[in-house]
Amino acid sequence: MLAGKRILVTGGGTGLGKVMAESYLRHGATVYIWGRRGGVLQDTADELMQAHGGQVIPQPVDIRDPQAIEAAVDEIFSEAPLDGLVNNAAGNFVSRTKDLSHRGFNAIASIVFHGSFYTTLDIGKRWIELGRPGSIISILTTWVWTGSPFVVPSSMSKAGLNSMTQSLAVEWGPHGIRLNAIAPGPFPTEGAWARLNPGTEGREDDQLDPTANPMMRVGKMSELANLALFLMSDGCDYLTGQTIAIDGAQHLANSGSFWRMVSLSDQDWEDMRNMIQQSNAADKAKRTT
Ligand code: HXC
Repeated sequence: MLAGKRILVTGGGTGLGKVMAESYLRHGATVYIWGRRGGVLQDTADELMQAHGGQVIPQPVDIRDPQAIEAAVDEIFSEAPLDGLVNNAAGNFVSRTKDLSHRGFNAIASIVFHGSFYTTLDIGKRWIELGRPGSIISILTTWVWTGSPFVVPSSMSKAGLNSMTQSLAVEWGPHGIRLNAIAPGPFPTEGAWARLNPGTEGREDDQLDPTANPMMRVGKMSELANLALFLMSDGCDYLTGQTIAIDGAQHLANSGSFWRMVSLSDQDWEDMRNMIQQSNAADKAKRTT
């Protein structure tokens, strides 16, 4: 389905990004994966190539840095142009908004809002200059429609990317560049769960009150991968400017995933903050090894 295509997945070393990278590889694409942890990217590339053959090229890139983006995209285009981009890299943690510092807000917005735009702009400009079509998928959340308490920097940033998807679908449509987005509901990954539901890792199903999700379950990774494959393929060239929810209709039944946290105590928030920071510190330690 994607034979001969070249696709970049940001945050492709772990979680949803890894799942999408694997699906693109299995369907014939050459896949570039970006992330901040070189070792993790290399392990993922080795694992996927061993399982499926083909080519996965890891590039350690922090998308908060436009110069790093430019250098890595130069490297890719010096081989051959890309055909697709998945803006998947993100950062998030639950916090009462009144407890956030400017740096806390920027920690999220600089990755999700700024970083995804920098990547889109760098690659889009090259496609326009070369007169080549391209497909961009951004991984958002259903909060782009409802907003969400306790994850305000993420919700605001992803809403901005929803607007980018609609705006550039129009502006870049005449250049043959498509932009679509996926709004996943609960697809448990280690990175997201530790920061959004701290203390409940490994008990993902406990998180779902049977009345909270109409499908009464969390999402399967293969379901997410299938949608990302469909949107990237040439079979839907007329589909652009759309954000598609894949959440078992959860946001329609119960918008705003974190509203129940209004009943947590000061101590609960303190405990959760400590758990998140421990998990951040463990990640940071991995980045420096
Ligand atoms: C309040 C917090 C905090 C918390 C950090 N901060 N954690 N404030 N509550 N729990 C504040 C700090 O106090 C500090 O401000 C500032 O944020 C920066 O802290 P750092 O530790 O230096 O942050 P940083 O190293 O930049 O790491 C934060 C991060 C990191 C970027 C979010 O966790 C990360 O790299 N995450 C990537 C993976 C990830 O988050 N995955 C989940 C994505 S889920 P001060 O002022 O004190 O210095 C997602 C959507 C899922 O995107 C949707 C599901 C439906």
